[in-house]
Amino acid sequence: MEKELKNDLYIRALLREETERTPAWMMRQAGRYLPEYRELRAKAGDFMSLCKNPELACEVTLQPLRRYPLDAAILFSDILTIPDALGLGLYFSAGEGPHFERPINSLSDINNLGILDPNDSLKYVTDAVETITRELKGEVPLIGFSGSPWTLATYMVEGKSSKQFTKIKQMMYREPDHLHKLLRNLALNVANYLNAQIEAGVRSVMIFDTWGGVLGHREYRTFSLEYMSLVISLLTREVNGQRIPVTVFTKGGGLWLSHIAESGADAVGVDWTVNLGTARKQVGNRVAIQGNVDPSILYGTPESIEQSVYLAVNDYGDGYSAQDLEFNRGHVFNLGHGIHQDVPVESPAIMLEALRKFTERK
Ligand code: CP3
Repeated sequence: MEKELKNDLYIRALLREETERTPAWMMRQAGRYLPEYRELRAKAGDFMSLCKNPELACEVTLQPLRRYPLDAAILFSDILTIPDALGLGLYFSAGEGPHFERPINSLSDINNLGILDPNDSLKYVTDAVETITRELKGEVPLIGFSGSPWTLATYMVEGKSSKQFTKIKQMMYREPDHLHKLLRNLALNVANYLNAQIEAGVRSVMIFDTWGGVLGHREYRTFSLEYMSLVISLLTREVNGQRIPVTVFTKGGGLWLSHIAESGADAVGVDWTVNLGTARKQVGNRVAIQGNVDPSILYGTPESIEQSVYLAVNDYGDGYSAQDLEFNRGHVFNLGHGIHQDVPVESPAIMLEALRKFTERK
């Protein structure tokens, strides 16, 4: 691991240290809205071939950084690598998203899962981390990630993306012990996987709890938050004297931020349904906040994009002057969810330039 990062604003913001401006990256910043991504993906054949080839995964990771002044890179991979390595047989069908050939149907399927050695079946991921870390040359930090145990379980039990989550909710209310057993297995696998990414060079990790928000408030704590806390308690938090910050993002979790702030994470991600100022008051100075403009602002005009950035930054800094260190302390600017695949490629540049204009301290 390179000792010094040239730009460590992202890490400093996650640790609520002073920053001379608000750092930014975009969820799903590498992907189909970029023509250079589409070109490479067409050559590679399919998405998982890109993920499984460390050189191509590295190239795709770096593509958005060549176009835009981003303060972090995120490993190009997917949350479904763990279930794939557990033997469920991941495949993507055009326009329909991910599917598993062998979803979880019974207790014996859960008992047979086992604990992975990430340096074996997921070596392509740690190889990609090493390649990207080398190519980044310390310019910006690399973010590693995993799905939350609950979010991974939804795909593994449903067998594909879902709207109603029928099968997993049947399991939750009829055979909660089975679900707990599955979630415990996943928590251990996720922790090992994130630790392997940390060992390979990522400077920060993020847990994507994309489907935590479909749970009731009580069930969220029992079936999602509890297992994310378990993951966090098992993570390597320091490498060479440097803290490895952890971010938890529960989409639709805006009402539960004060509980999420107790998970052991350094930062919480929020979607666009919450006001950043309100979110900040809820978490106090316990954690940093990442977010949260609606990804659809990138469909707007340059003026409307600027306006959305201005409002988000000022929501966060509510009560402080822009020259005050407290104005942006602990804020990482981001979209509230992944970037849409049909936004104009010019839009992110307009957004990021506006962010600098509104937060740079002279
Ligand atoms: O942020 C980044 O740039 C890193 C890459 C990244 C991808 N997936 C690449 C990807 C990350 C962080 C993910 C996480 C992920 N994957 C999540 C959690 C985050 C979120 O968006 O809520 C989830 C739920 C998945 C599962 C998954 N993978 C879905 C639902 C899909 C979309 C399928 C489709 O056809 O739209 C994927 C595929 C995927 N993952 C793509 C990319 C760039 C598109 C693949 C392609 O066709 O090129």
